[in-house]
Amino acid sequence: MAAPRGIVWKLDPHTRAKHEILKRYLQAWMIILSQGSFPDILYIDGFAGPGEYEGGEPGSPIIALDAALNHRSHLSARIHFLFVEEKESRANHLRQLISARKLPDNFDVVVEGGTTFLAAFDRNVRRYQRSSRLFPTFAFIDPFGWTGAPFGLIKHILTQPSCEVFVNFMYEEINRFLSHRDQVQNFDDFFGTNAWKECVDETDPTKRNRCLHDLYLSQLRDAANAKYVRSFEMSNMRDVTDYYLFYATNKLLGLKKMKEAMWKADESGGFRFSDATNPDQLILFEKSPNYDALRANLLVEFAGRQVRVEEIETFVVAQTAFRETHYKGILKSLEMESGQLAAINPVPGRKKGTFGDPEMLVRFA
Ligand SMILES: C[S@@+](CC[C@H](N)C(=O)[O-])C[C@H]1O[C@@H](n2cnc3c(N)ncnc32)[C@H](O)[C@@H]1O
Repeated sequence: MAAPRGIVWKLDPHTRAKHEILKRYLQAWMIILSQGSFPDILYIDGFAGPGEYEGGEPGSPIIALDAALNHRSHLSARIHFLFVEEKESRANHLRQLISARKLPDNFDVVVEGGTTFLAAFDRNVRRYQRSSRLFPTFAFIDPFGWTGAPFGLIKHILTQPSCEVFVNFMYEEINRFLSHRDQVQNFDDFFGTNAWKECVDETDPTKRNRCLHDLYLSQLRDAANAKYVRSFEMSNMRDVTDYYLFYATNKLLGLKKMKEAMWKADESGGFRFSDATNPDQLILFEKSPNYDALRANLLVEFAGRQVRVEEIETFVVAQTAFRETHYKGILKSLEMESGQLAAINPVPGRKKGTFGDPEMLVRFA
């Protein structure tokens, strides 16, 4: 899709799904951080857009503001919003939408228009620091393509405590322009390395896709040192990748909440949405999760081992596409039906097939 030229444009189903995820996640994020010990938290929308779509649907900055407004009674922290939009006309549209809302005193909203994400971040960063550290931050990076979202800045944000990023990786556009000679520097900046060049000669479309995906994933994990990184693939019904969403965080709780948002995304928009972190194990987000896949995963991971229930949960959340709500039914069937699991030190009176005690040891056959 070519980047639209007008102030607003039509909302497509893929974007609607992305917004739904963002909204659910932000509601959880703001409450968790605000109820923590943080006096200030920061939401950055580096590619904010005009704040609404052609049909009046809210854009990402308004979704973030409204998520906070709807939960204002729970939010004791000062909540800072930095919205950046390169096109002044779109930034003005956004300003108008914001001025129509009554904001509580603990909301601090800055709209930077006619400038880039990088320039606006540099100009404002001191406002958002305490003892030279960035406030706990969620940065949403949602460009139309790859320019203006340098990996160096993403890395800078991610390496600060309690900061995380959510990046829309516009695969289709990136792939299309990869061999354009005038884009070399832009791609170097975007990936934070020139290793993307190794993907250019890959003629098999699936391998090329994986090459680019895996490079960005490893940059977030290894170069930016993020403890937990997951990628989510949005594809059309012909299984062609449209974009990936990369979420990187150092907090397991954040990952739990993001996965909750992903699993609840609406499936009705003519697209497929899956966890793509491990391309050999694409897991589709659907109403009824593929429990067989998780069961197989657990049996391989823990074969012959004795582990605490809590370790199983951490594995499920951190290493698989599944949620903390997905594995206990599987443990139950392994214990009660197939006999492949035994409880080692149950509390007196434990009901067979229940795994509420995180400290309980279980042994896999
Ligand atoms: C995909 S749209 C954003 C949509 C918005 N995040 C939403 O979900 O409603 C990308 C926006 O980024 C703006 N933009 C492009 N390059 C930029 C840059 N370097 N810094 C900030 N904004 C930029 C474009 O004008 C466009 O409005």
